[in-house]
Amino acid sequence: MSAVHTAVIPAAGLGTRFLPATKAMPKEMLPVVDKPAIQFVVEEAVAAGMDDVLFITSRGKRALEDHFDRNTDLEVALAEKNDSDRLALTQESTDLARVHYVRQGQALGLGHAVLMAENHVGDRPFAVLLGDDLIDARDPILPKMIEVREKHGGSVICLMRVPREDISLYGCAAVEETTDDDVLRVVDLIEKPPVEQAPSDLAIIGRYVLDPAVFDVLHRTQPGRGGEIQLTDALLELASMPAEQGGGVHGVVFDGRRYDTGDKLSYLKAVIRLATEREDIGPDLRTWIAEQDYGRAP
Ligand code: G1P
Repeated sequence: MSAVHTAVIPAAGLGTRFLPATKAMPKEMLPVVDKPAIQFVVEEAVAAGMDDVLFITSRGKRALEDHFDRNTDLEVALAEKNDSDRLALTQESTDLARVHYVRQGQALGLGHAVLMAENHVGDRPFAVLLGDDLIDARDPILPKMIEVREKHGGSVICLMRVPREDISLYGCAAVEETTDDDVLRVVDLIEKPPVEQAPSDLAIIGRYVLDPAVFDVLHRTQPGRGGEIQLTDALLELASMPAEQGGGVHGVVFDGRRYDTGDKLSYLKAVIRLATEREDIGPDLRTWIAEQDYGRAP
């Protein structure tokens, strides 16, 4: 049984990068082929042993709440038709975990969103999963992160090497090696640094295992990059705190398959990649893509 039971999933963002699609629909509900992106994230948490999910939401996220609730009208209609396959698809998201919601009344940043989880989480370690990052189910990283937390205590972040010119899209970590080959000690963190100020090419990606000490730190974290309360800044303070106070931050490097659904182009690439791998539609889609003549005059 995993020592981390609660997955906190911030889902309060306005999704302005996907307007007009997200005018009346949460961006988390955008489908990746036929499943809302956010369901992949919940499935990943459940696969890593978590049974308690807390969404940090905001106004206009009703469709997300409905998705993880039962839809009895639909269930009855499908049962009457003996359509057990579609009935199972309808029930899939309901049975995954105990799901809770708390609202972030003001968009004050990721650190502030995580702080909204304080009452629910209490004094246990917990995971944070950001919905814009999809980690391929074949390359799980959370179990490794939980293992590192159990061994070293403190908090654990997930790092990925990115091309230098992309580092300013992410939090960036400076690290030292440890006696464990695949575990790094985090010594500095900068949220979205200009390329020339980045201490490394190690980007923070959206998976965290956090010590509850993060809440006290977040209470005093001042607005940082973009005027927002940044989780990265709180983690930097945790990194220099003693272990007895819940301090210490380690990093694991992820080199598996990750899909970014945070902007239009990356989202489309994620959908196409996952669609081409599907048994049902993949072969036809691949053939169709190969046949396209992109240079054709309009
Ligand atoms: C957040 C974090 C950033 C991290 C990124 C990963 O930024 O603040 O440190 O690298 O998620 O996706 P956001 O992309 O929400 O602006």
